[in-house]
Amino acid sequence: MSKVSVQKITFGGETLQDPYPMYARMHEGGPLHLLDVDGQWGAWAIFSHAECSSIAKDPRLSAKRAQQMLALLPPDSQSEFRELARMLNLWLIFMDAPEHTRLRKLLNKGFAPAAVEGLRPQVEAIVEGMLKPLERGATVELMQEFANPMPVRIISEMLGVPPELHDTFVNWSRAIAVFRGNPERTVEQARAAQDALIAMTDFFRTAVAERRRNKGSDLISLLIDIEEDGEVLTEEELYAQCIALLFAGHETTRNLIGNGMYTLLKHPQETAELREKPEMIRSAVEEILRYESPVQFTARVLKEDIEVCGQRIPKRWSILCMLGAANRDPKQFKEPNRLDLKRLNNQHLAFSAGPHFCIGNQLARLEGQIALLNLVQRFPEMKFAGPPPEWAPTFGFRGLKSLAVTL
Ligand code: HEM
Repeated sequence: MSKVSVQKITFGGETLQDPYPMYARMHEGGPLHLLDVDGQWGAWAIFSHAECSSIAKDPRLSAKRAQQMLALLPPDSQSEFRELARMLNLWLIFMDAPEHTRLRKLLNKGFAPAAVEGLRPQVEAIVEGMLKPLERGATVELMQEFANPMPVRIISEMLGVPPELHDTFVNWSRAIAVFRGNPERTVEQARAAQDALIAMTDFFRTAVAERRRNKGSDLISLLIDIEEDGEVLTEEELYAQCIALLFAGHETTRNLIGNGMYTLLKHPQETAELREKPEMIRSAVEEILRYESPVQFTARVLKEDIEVCGQRIPKRWSILCMLGAANRDPKQFKEPNRLDLKRLNNQHLAFSAGPHFCIGNQLARLEGQIALLNLVQRFPEMKFAGPPPEWAPTFGFRGLKSLAVTL
């Protein structure tokens, strides 16, 4: 058995603003570490690319972890959040086989390459419509003006959420992101996430009933078909998938766009080359996904005692898969801390791996490619405005609080 030393770390402060020195330190020490987070709680965490990838595929680990997310809340508050855990447990991302396999196979239909490619004109029109009124030389807050609302519009149109509710959905979704993405979550954050889930469920209960009377080719109709087809989806599970898709559809993609533009602004030479050779946009988006990954970690729970990297870990422990660190692993990537928009064989883990590999990856890539290329080409003089941008306090969902730029 290998000896594992306890690593004292924090997910806030400087590490939140720049996690990469901490990741480099961990890589030097080996793939697996036992973390002591702020002296408050402990967790096993895998930092290396190879081991993160194999743990995400290992059936001896479970994705059912909503209950674990409550573990750090004060014990006397936990009963208040039973509903929160119950509702999150219905999400595809927190299911295990065989339920996960069945539902995933059916949902794949809505995200098949042809279905996503069919959305291209809609994405292009939305991006064009949002960027056209912006004038060169104007100073804008790009997250608020573009990166936040753009993916919401796409996924909301796919799910039939009307435009006047987009802002409300963004606020609800934020509350869930703050709870999920912050390992040091508080009772207030849990309360806000639970309230948001209840409100979103109420919305989808009505929306699904309406759509049942008038089915189309949208995602809700697909989910209704799945539900009517057999015992795969209950009514409650149906609402849960709508919420999960809405959440996942924008909370991460907005950060792909925000992190992408921030990274490009910090690398003007590479950006100038992309502007001249727009065919580079595919590899550029893959590199941005690797370099500033919107999802920095995911987690699994051990169903049985297992050995990970030579270390016996007991049943019911959680393991964090540090996807953002795996994407900077020097064993996998040459010069991992260098942005190379033409990087070849870029097998990043930004969308994870295994059965839970992101179902929306093609849609996210499409949105990222169209949005970033448009920004770079329309505003060749774009530069940072105001003080350096700060990262939002949701370590797991890496994104900027705001991004002030002069176009
Ligand atoms: C840049 C954007 C995105 C990133 C970085 C991202 C990342 C991820 C990651 C890392 C996972 C797997 C987590 C795990 O292994 O536990 C995941 C799963 C998932 N993502 Fe995404 N995602 C993005 C965009 C989207 C979009 C646009 C949608 C849908 C419209 C979506 C829907 C989902 C769903 C439903 C799952 C669960 C899949 C399953 O459990 O089988 N994601 N995503």
